[in-house]
Parts: sequence; structure tokens; C-alpha cells
Amino acid sequence: MFVRLSATLRPALRRAQPSWRPRTQSRGCAAKSAAVHLHQDCLELSYGGTPMRFNYVWLRDHCRSAESFNSSTHQRNVDTGSIELSIRPDRTAVEDGHLVLTWPGGHVSKYSLSWLAENSYEVSKQRTVHQRILWNSDIYESANVPSATYDKFMSCDDEMKKFLQNYLLYGIAFVDEVPATVEATQEVTQRVSLIRETTYGGMWCFTSDFSRGDSAYSQLALDRHTDTSYFQEPCGIQVFHCLKHEGTGGRTLLVDGFYAAEQVRQKSPENFELLATVPIRHDYIEKSESHQNHMTGIGPVLSVYPWNNEVYLMRYNNYDRGVINTVPHDAVRRWYVAHRELTTELRRPENELWVKLTPGKVIFIDNWRVLHGRESFTGLRQLCGCYLTRDDIISTARCLGLPALS
Ligand SMILES: [Fe+2]
Repeated sequence: MFVRLSATLRPALRRAQPSWRPRTQSRGCAAKSAAVHLHQDCLELSYGGTPMRFNYVWLRDHCRSAESFNSSTHQRNVDTGSIELSIRPDRTAVEDGHLVLTWPGGHVSKYSLSWLAENSYEVSKQRTVHQRILWNSDIYESANVPSATYDKFMSCDDEMKKFLQNYLLYGIAFVDEVPATVEATQEVTQRVSLIRETTYGGMWCFTSDFSRGDSAYSQLALDRHTDTSYFQEPCGIQVFHCLKHEGTGGRTLLVDGFYAAEQVRQKSPENFELLATVPIRHDYIEKSESHQNHMTGIGPVLSVYPWNNEVYLMRYNNYDRGVINTVPHDAVRRWYVAHRELTTELRRPENELWVKLTPGKVIFIDNWRVLHGRESFTGLRQLCGCYLTRDDIISTARCLGLPALS
């Protein structure tokens, strides 16, 4: 970028509060014009066609000089608690594509205009954190998303990158031809993330033996739900591998919860708002000789980033939902209407993707987004799997250059 603004703002100009647009000397056709305007409490920068406002205290706090920020560790050195909240720069200039501020006491901060644009609220609110393709069964099936294959997945970063790209876009991804063992399943999961230890252990393996106080350990059909909504931070990823099934039924149901949430948002914004704000409790209570648990997670059905209204987490588990006592009765009634509308969307047959998990096919499910369930089954069915930490799988994706901002 070749933008050179030669003007310098003096303290006297700050008091005048002018709308200040310096002469721009641009070189090269890729140049973007920039203009700075000083307000009482913030600096306004127009750059690349977007007006952005930065508080002075924010600018001092985000100084990237060696004294203020360690660029090797990406950690802040400046003591935020020591910055004068009413701080203002003594001198302001734009030079060679950078905003240069001189603070009282002489410290100089220099920010590239592109860095400021990238990190501004105004640009962030227009940008999605996760690029996603929301789906119903037609959309997903017609996309013909390929599965990874075990050998390549374990040895080739490109194969893993394609797998993670699909995972980020659709919230589900498959690895085929995996040996039908707990050990091989563990190997596959550890290729992308850490296994999250829970009360069920790290890797778990279950049959319909009612060995735990949860309906998952039965042959019954299970309606669509997210797992571990009773954790303050629900598990990020669920992994399933059907090692053996000698019987009928048992298909896995998958529903894109964010697709349903967007339907609600478009049809009834007020219902979407209720689902995104009313805190709901989920509980897991287990009292057996071998296991004593009482876990509680509290959060809305839909968690939404406040700056861009993007949904990032859904808690939907009618089995584990606890007592509602966080809002008065009139809000409770309206919440049930909103919940019913979401349930209607989640239960539309066209939104259901049914998959038969067979030995060798490992599925990764974004448990913050995609609901799972199953039909009832007969015979011996042995399933293994685990939960993964969301932070780690997203970190792996990011380190491979995939666009996953948060
Ligand atoms: Fe489940």
C-alpha cells in the first residue's frame, strides 16, 4: 500500500475539532486514500472507504512499539491500568501508510492503516468469525462433501486441512477406512485435537447396557440434541465410531442447529432474541455406586457474538434441560413460544440428515452447532468415541492457514 499523507496535527487543532482531510499523495493504483479527524474522545480514520473510530485510550493500549508490546510472544507489555483514561496524543500524523501518534511524555506509537482497519470494530461487525455453509439435507447431500481417508489423513497435512475446512464449513466431517478399534479412533482424533477428559473418561466405549445413568446407554431412539449442555462450556466436538452392530436400526440423525436458528431469526426476530438472552439451566445428575455427579450449565439456547450477531453456540437438549426460573412468568410464556418455533425448524424432515455409521467411518460433529440423535436399534451395537476440545481443533485449523477467527 502506498499512501503518504504529509500533514501533521498540532495540539491547537485538536481544540478546533475540524473535519480534517489532508492532501493525499498516492503512488500506485492499489493505493487507498486515508483521512483523519480528531474528535473529543476518539480519532476517526476513513480508510479504504470505511470510517472507523478509535478511542485514544484504546490506541495507547494497543500500541505495538517494542516498549509496549512483545512481538515475539504476542503479549502486551504496557500496563493498561497506568494509562490516563483521558489521554490524547500531542501530535498526529499519517506517514507512509501508518498512523503516527506522539503521546504526552514523548512516547511514539505507529500503526499501519491496514492493521487498524483489520482490527476496528466497524470492520469486525461486518465480518463473520466463521465462514459456514448452513445446510438442510438437500444442501448437504448435493454438496458431495468428500470424506478423508485414514492413511492420507494420518500422514498428509493437506488431507487434514481439507478435512478441517469441511468441518468448519459444515460442522460435520468424516474419516473413512479407519480400523474398527478404539486405539485407531483415538489416533485419528489426536491428529487434530486434544481429547477432553470428562466424567465419561477420555475415550469411551459403550453398548446398550445401561451402565451409566444416561439414555445414551440404551437401545431407545434419541431425539436431536447437543451433548454436555450441562457444562458451563459444553464440549466442542463429539467423535463417534461404530465398531460393531449386529442388528437393525440405529441410524444417526444430524441437524444443523444454526440453519434452524437462522430460520427463526428471519421469521421471528423477537423469538430469536429471547432464545439468545434467556438463561437456561441444564443438569446432569447421576447417583450410582460407582458414579456421583451433579453438573449444571447455565446459558441461553443461542449464544451470539454481540458485535456481529453471529450465532456461535447452541444448547438444545430437552432431556437435560433443568428448571426455568431465571425470568418472570410472562417471559417464560414467550420463551416457550420461541422454543417451540425453534423445535419446529429443527424437526422439519427436510432438515434431517440420516447417516448409517459403519465400522471404519469416524464422524466428527461440531457439538456447538450440529445436533445429533439416533433411531432405536436391535442387537449388539458397540460405539466408541470421545469429546475434543474446541479451542485445539480450531487452533489446528488456524495454524494450517484456514480462516477461523475465533
Ligand atoms: Fe448425545
